[in-house]
Amino acid sequence: MLPMAKAYKRYLVTSALPYANGPVHIGHLAGVYIPSDIYTRYLRLKGCDVVSVCGSDEHGVPITIKARKEGITPQQVVDRYHEIIRKSFEGLGMSFDIYSRTSSPTHAATASEFFRKLYDEGKFIERTSEQYYDEEAQTFLADRYIVGTCPKCGNDRAYGDQCEKCGSTLSPDELVDPRSAVSGSVPVKRETKHWYLPLNDYEAFLREWILDGHKEWKSNVYGQCKSWLDGGLQPRAVSRDLDWGIPVPVEGAEGKVLYVWFDAPIGYISATKDFTPDWEKYWKSEDTKMVHFIGKDNIVFHCIVFPSMLKAHGGYILPENVPANEFLNLEGDKISTSRNWAVWLHEYLEEFPGKEDVLRYVLCANAPETKDNDFTWKDYQARNNNELVAVLGNFVNRALVLTEKYFGGVVPACGALTDYDRETLAEVAAVKASLEADIEGYHFREALKEAMNVARIGNKYLADTEPWKVIKSDPARVETILYVALQITANTAIAIEPFMPFSAAKILRMLAAEKFSWERLGATDLVAAGHRIGRAELLFEKIDDEAIQRQLDKLAATKAANEAANEAAEAVQNIEQQKDSCTFDEFQKMDIRVSTILSAEKVAKTKKLLKLTVDTGIDRREIVSGIAEHFTPEELVGRQVLVLVNLEPRELKGILSRGMILMAEDASGKLRLLSPGEPCTNGAVVG
Ligand code: 2FM
Ligand code: ZN
Repeated sequence: MLPMAKAYKRYLVTSALPYANGPVHIGHLAGVYIPSDIYTRYLRLKGCDVVSVCGSDEHGVPITIKARKEGITPQQVVDRYHEIIRKSFEGLGMSFDIYSRTSSPTHAATASEFFRKLYDEGKFIERTSEQYYDEEAQTFLADRYIVGTCPKCGNDRAYGDQCEKCGSTLSPDELVDPRSAVSGSVPVKRETKHWYLPLNDYEAFLREWILDGHKEWKSNVYGQCKSWLDGGLQPRAVSRDLDWGIPVPVEGAEGKVLYVWFDAPIGYISATKDFTPDWEKYWKSEDTKMVHFIGKDNIVFHCIVFPSMLKAHGGYILPENVPANEFLNLEGDKISTSRNWAVWLHEYLEEFPGKEDVLRYVLCANAPETKDNDFTWKDYQARNNNELVAVLGNFVNRALVLTEKYFGGVVPACGALTDYDRETLAEVAAVKASLEADIEGYHFREALKEAMNVARIGNKYLADTEPWKVIKSDPARVETILYVALQITANTAIAIEPFMPFSAAKILRMLAAEKFSWERLGATDLVAAGHRIGRAELLFEKIDDEAIQRQLDKLAATKAANEAANEAAEAVQNIEQQKDSCTFDEFQKMDIRVSTILSAEKVAKTKKLLKLTVDTGIDRREIVSGIAEHFTPEELVGRQVLVLVNLEPRELKGILSRGMILMAEDASGKLRLLSPGEPCTNGAVVG
């Protein structure tokens, strides 16, 4: 027998706090925010007591790195992105009860008190260790401030906390050839003191709570937890040497702040505090069901670290589930903020006004629930045109337009129902239970299919009953058909609301109906006979090839820009080291003159040599140069070049070569002649 599911009195839904160092993209949405919003909207429709919190994660090294790069303060960085993210979430209909930020005073106080309690109760250990220090920038190099070669995959741009190429979690000490991301210099080791949470002390608790108590968690989440626990937990530093963050609230901790992953999850608590003075009942009562929505890269922090912090503190509940998703790729490639390989939410909202639900739909239908998945613009277009327009939009439109046409927009009376009518309505009613099971089991893709089934059932019903034909012979029967079709339409509005709230609201507007509660899903009297409905409008519009091509072109331009930037970066990496220094006198010894090449010919029986006659302004002389594979004689004649004229003469293939033509050789080995920027007299001295 299955254990009885616990009955909760209220819900606390948290959604990973996005870093305020860049805008939100479709990967974030599909992984975290769309599922969390579906879940929250569903609970609200059911009339549950639910609080949904989110906010910007405004500390951490990526933010200070961005500020340094742009020559602005970290506060300016987070102010900018907090606003962009907040607005774009609102634009997409994210229905958080509060969108807070971790630079808020409530948060600083909450996180400091949390740390202080653990500190006072001796829950931390203090350790002095050697960490990388940048002598040039006079700063310790925490996390992403240190870069180097990944020991696992050889990526030479891995960070001190993670390699973005192979996804490995790293520590700075594992990096090969570490460099400072601040100055590029080779760092030294320096001693520094930090506070550590001894996660090893919480291993037994975590094993029991997760491995024994939460076998129902998604296999990707459970599996990651198990592998962390089987690998053995280590004490984890909860402070950093940085000047951006919440100061460690302990005497003698100047220049040290709370590690971003210590303060960020506490942000869920401070956001709840900012939302309601009743916050404790959401955090401290076993009657509350807390669910963390996150992406897979956050699993360890939400399942191992934060629960250990909550346990150490005491008095707080633990999450009942952490339905983490995998990652979404874009057109076959990993989404990347630094490579600008993303569809940015704020840009989407500008470029596709009125199509918020299309994105919500596609990202849910394609959500990476059990494995990484791919977003493609062609699939976006196909889902819009073949599913939203052809199924949902088509059904709703037909039901409304036919009611307008045959009955002047008034809901007709329901006559005797046929068996088929009854079966159809029963099918609609049956959607409720499976939809609930799917949403409550965090299977949102399946749930969306179920919700769309209501419209599919409606479409089939109209196709089978053919009211447009029956109207001629049996108008009374058409009254019943459209009565049924309108009930299905209203049911559609309930079923899709958690997924596509804008379209649900539009259907209700067109039906001139108020919002229904979830419990009414399946009802056959949602719109009463005699009720006048509103004007029918199109629910969705086809998206044409040009709109899709514009997006593909945009991505192609990004790819080209990335390739050019990579080539440039590689060229910089291949630049030869600077030679040992020379004195001014040594340099002065070299006599370099502007000269003109008068003639050029290949030296017989050689592949590489050209014999050049040059006018150096001092004289005419012959120079043998090994450039035959790079230039044809015709390309050279008439060119002004720079010649080292006092190089010791040398005999080559029987020709006395008196001087050297100066060239630049780039990383690819390509040679370029050096010449004065504009025509100049031969013999002009270079120096
Ligand atoms: O991965 C991220 O984007 C983090 N900023 C998530 C933080 S979640 C929570 F702990 F605040
Ligand atoms: Zn790697």
